Amino acid sequence: MVETIQWTEDGVVMIDQTRLPREETYVTCRTYEEVAEAIRGMVIRGAPAIGVAAAMGVALGVLLSGEGDLDAQVEKICATLAATRPTEVNLFWALDRMKKLYASLRDRPLEEIRARLIAEAQQIRLEDIAINEAIGRHGAALVPDGRTVLTHCNAGALATAGYGTALGVIRAAVELGKKIDVFADETRPFLQGARLTVWELQQDGIPTTLITDNMAGHFLKSGRIGCVVVGADRIAANGDVANKIGTYSLAVLAKENQVPFFVAAPISTLDLTLAAGDQIPIEQRAAAEVTHVFGAPVAPPGVRVENPAFDVTPHRYVTAIITERGVARPPYTESLQKLALS
Ligand code: MRU
Repeated sequence: MVETIQWTEDGVVMIDQTRLPREETYVTCRTYEEVAEAIRGMVIRGAPAIGVAAAMGVALGVLLSGEGDLDAQVEKICATLAATRPTEVNLFWALDRMKKLYASLRDRPLEEIRARLIAEAQQIRLEDIAINEAIGRHGAALVPDGRTVLTHCNAGALATAGYGTALGVIRAAVELGKKIDVFADETRPFLQGARLTVWELQQDGIPTTLITDNMAGHFLKSGRIGCVVVGADRIAANGDVANKIGTYSLAVLAKENQVPFFVAAPISTLDLTLAAGDQIPIEQRAAAEVTHVFGAPVAPPGVRVENPAFDVTPHRYVTAIITERGVARPPYTESLQKLALS
């Protein structure tokens, strides 16, 4: 399995997701600022992977902390990391966990604080892999045998510490012996589907067909798709789901064609402080991601551009939400709360 992110003696090592699949190269972040830059620049992306990176960023920042007020330095480290990708709730979840641990240790010797923060970040990484395997176990039963699964963006090993959420469900179904075929949306503008999902699934030998985003409706209507499985970046208390831009269109088209629409995500992606999805902040990214493909312009200069990185799918389009603690079904206000407390 691909190593998305690791803590090493040299720093935080990440596979460079901006270069895949053309090059399999690794980036070493030696400061917390470099970790923040890697998150912002999408060297590492995907909600759970960003959470792990943020935790390792905090550990790295404290490891290299200077003289002076450590409380203030931790605040600054966390604020810098928090200012990278506003929709990804796992980022804030991980920072919160690291901040709470720091608060419980702040009277301890510096060497102990550093060691404990490093251990916690490594623990978050390991837990994430186990969580994804559990999501896979719960989700595999929902995937119809002998059918094609449509997925969007990359919610795989690369978007997590390993195994993946949506792709974890597909992997687990295959491990159960189900005959699964995957359709991967290319996922403009960043092409996570074409570049990352296809690369990952090819490595596992899972049969995969690449389609452009605007072909999804055609295939959903054709009866060839058995279900849709996607990940999530933030899920509100009522089950509204923020995920990669284009997810909402897929969900509406899935419902129109009576195709089940599943969301696979860890409990840490739930944001039960938000009653509904319209309160989820949506990250706006650079115009160049839309006007250019691999540095080459695809539109006339000067064109106005909108580039929201995520959209929100209303809960009425979501058949079920698959978590490591079980599968939530409507009404989500009750089922998600129950899983979160279990
Ligand atoms: O902008 P990205 O590539 O970070 O967006 C990723 C997604 O939207 C994923 O579907 C989501 O984070 C779930 S990853 C397990």
